[in-house]
Amino acid sequence: MQEYDYEKLKEVGSVSWEAVQHAKALVKPGASLLDVCEKTEAFIKSKGLQLAFPVNISVNDRAAHYTATIADATVFGENDIVKVDVGARHEDVLGDCAATVDLSGDYAKLVEAAEEALEAGLAAVRAGARLNDIGKEIGKVVGSRGFKPIRNLGGHAVEYGELHASIFIPNYDNGDTTQLEEGQVIALEPFVTTGDGFVVDSDIVQIFQLNGPASARSAEARKLVEIVEKEHKTYPFAIRWLAKGFASEFSIRKGLNELAVLGALQSFPALVERSHGIVAQAENEAIVEKDSCTVVTK
Ligand code: CO
Repeated sequence: MQEYDYEKLKEVGSVSWEAVQHAKALVKPGASLLDVCEKTEAFIKSKGLQLAFPVNISVNDRAAHYTATIADATVFGENDIVKVDVGARHEDVLGDCAATVDLSGDYAKLVEAAEEALEAGLAAVRAGARLNDIGKEIGKVVGSRGFKPIRNLGGHAVEYGELHASIFIPNYDNGDTTQLEEGQVIALEPFVTTGDGFVVDSDIVQIFQLNGPASARSAEARKLVEIVEKEHKTYPFAIRWLAKGFASEFSIRKGLNELAVLGALQSFPALVERSHGIVAQAENEAIVEKDSCTVVTK
């Protein structure tokens, strides 16, 4: 394993966390989701960093992977509960953290459950800790508050250039006894719901990722590869980010479809809780230490 640049990681982590605070302050009833995405992304760039992925803003029963569309007209409603998931990036060093804004105050207990579950999970992190034991701590807090963790979403390792690397850190005891290693970088992200505890793909897809060098035929696909390889490499990008280079969303989709057929593209549909339960999320990124961990997204 390459020696991790922990100093860069701390910088990227702290800007990611500041960006979440920045976004939280902008999320208000009547505010535009597109505007919050763009301002939060601009905030990260103003710190001299890039984006590890498009800012995700997922509302109510939507758990993750929604980002504004090109001319997104969504405004936040008075009763919305809004998850903001943000990652800054310096070259291949990646940040990842998230928080929830509860605009009505009706979901304070749900948000608190996600935040306390995250704390309980982090308290269990150390070299040698088993993934299922961390999941057990998270799940215990969530269950004791009368909610369910989302079982098919979880934390992950963060490696150079790879956000969802190698390990899946569950939000319940899934029996995986894989142990954490000292120096490993991980993110814990409890998703807590009033529903069943599972997400499914919706038919909204705004976030994509190139798998690697791709050779395509159509003019649209070739142009898309050229832009993405140069600006976003193999990191996730939003259709919105390509708007400037193309005549219409239709021509972007045409290029994306060709790349998908070639197997050159991954897509990330917005994920929705399958019973339409309301979802809250909290996430921090941390370095695994001998007896504890150091949170970098603060
Ligand atoms: Co994450």
